[in-house]
Amino acid sequence: MSKNLIIAIDGPAGSGKSTTAQLVAQKLDFVYIDTGAMYRAITYLAIRNNALGNKDKIIELAANSNIDLKFENGVTCISINKEDLTNKIRTLDVNKNVSDVSKIEEVRRILVRKQRDIGSKTTGVVMEGRDIATVVFPNADIKIFLTATIDKRAKRRAKEYAENGIEIPVTEIKENLKNRDQIDSNREVSPLVKAEDAIVVDTSYVSIEEQVNIILNKVKKTADNLGIDVKIN
Ligand code: DC
Repeated sequence: MSKNLIIAIDGPAGSGKSTTAQLVAQKLDFVYIDTGAMYRAITYLAIRNNALGNKDKIIELAANSNIDLKFENGVTCISINKEDLTNKIRTLDVNKNVSDVSKIEEVRRILVRKQRDIGSKTTGVVMEGRDIATVVFPNADIKIFLTATIDKRAKRRAKEYAENGIEIPVTEIKENLKNRDQIDSNREVSPLVKAEDAIVVDTSYVSIEEQVNIILNKVKKTADNLGIDVKIN
């Protein structure tokens, strides 16, 4: 493949981004990047260093973070300065604070630079987040915006937690999601918005297979137009 294909997937928490993006990447043999894991890891460091609310300290932590991201056995593994944080970034405490950390412009600048660097070094990438199609890769070849009703999203997250042995009431998850939606969509820097040229896929009532196929069909068409040969596994 001469040109690298970039597939950007954005959407709110619980819209099915991770599952969809992982499957699409697997089908295409592309690299999968979960950018939320990076914001989560910086948030975890901010909590551990008692830096919440201290913007300068959080920026310093981000600037001094050498982030390593790998997708192994179905899990996004993240380490910072060689310390593995994979099991520390999906806690309620991180959930509660990650949107505030993500509002900081300088933190975003640092992480976006890293995301562009990773994406440009691949032969094909599926990157998911909130601002991939609008800011990180505004020229992405394929832009997808996933949505789903708040009830569906909360139920999905509750199920994910339950599968990991954590029981959290759906109502509590729903409140956290609403709160994050509100902050993520209304922040001044790179808010969660649909890129003008993104395709909206509402995942409330379609199966994962259907979601994935919609995207793969689009990839196929785009690749054909660009004269790129993609194989779908
Ligand atoms: O996708 P996620 O729920 O793991 O993301 C966690 C938070 O990180 C989310 O509430 C907002 C922030 N985020 C962001 O601001 N920009 C991204 N590209 C990805 C995530």
